[in-house]
Amino acid sequence: MYWLFNSSIGRKLIMSISGIFLILFLLFHATMNLVLVFSAEAYDMICEALGANWYAIAGTLVLAGGFVIHIAYATWLTLQNRQARGADNYASSNKTQTEWAAKNMYVLGLIIVLGLAIHLWNFWYNMQFKELLHLEGAVSGGSGLVIGLFSDCPVYTLIYLAWLFAIWFHLTHGVWSAMQTIGFNNKTWFPRLKVIGNIVATIIMIVFAVVPVYFGIIGLFK
Ligand code: HEM
Repeated sequence: MYWLFNSSIGRKLIMSISGIFLILFLLFHATMNLVLVFSAEAYDMICEALGANWYAIAGTLVLAGGFVIHIAYATWLTLQNRQARGADNYASSNKTQTEWAAKNMYVLGLIIVLGLAIHLWNFWYNMQFKELLHLEGAVSGGSGLVIGLFSDCPVYTLIYLAWLFAIWFHLTHGVWSAMQTIGFNNKTWFPRLKVIGNIVATIIMIVFAVVPVYFGIIGLFK
């Protein structure tokens, strides 16, 4: 077990597994959001089921743990790489052209965390946090809040699209890198993983983009 913390491949494995866990969350979250375009009532039913009950709180804590581990290890690995190689983050960047996303995973990650803070303040704070602490103005079904945010202020659509773009970029490198770390690292799989990574990242982000774009456009014609 010690090698998981003490070796750089162990740390990378933890990055990969926590990353795959977060990708699974994104797949679930994006699919759930899509329901809103078809039925606000169905969406509110899902929100209420995932509301402030003990299972949901446990889920939130596990999810937060996943984010914390992923970010803490990313910081650790990035600092370690810097120390080992000076300003040049990746040893390979001298010999081969390393992609922008690969070299800038940490910077992309910071933009994502900043967007996540705005996002949680937009929704999670008003829905779960207020309900948990019995604060005034807690919203139980989220449909009104989500539709209101994008249709009352379509600038939010642009902010969310920029955020999604950063996540897409992060995932184009993250998905294949994670799969490579957990063992798919031979010659045949290398190009395939890149294609799979790009497809998964693109599908997740297109599905996420539907809600802000759809209600943003409705807002423009209100
Ligand atoms: C762009 C479209 C998105 C919409 C409309 C949306 C909507 C929402 C809503 C309404 C909630 C509150 C749910 C609740 O508390 O019951 C929520 C929670 C959350 N969202 Fe999003 N979201 C979007 C994208 C994202 C993305 C891209 C991420 C990740 C990077 C993300 C991460 C989270 C997290 C971590 C929570 C808290 C989950 C929990 O309470 O356990 N969301 N989102």
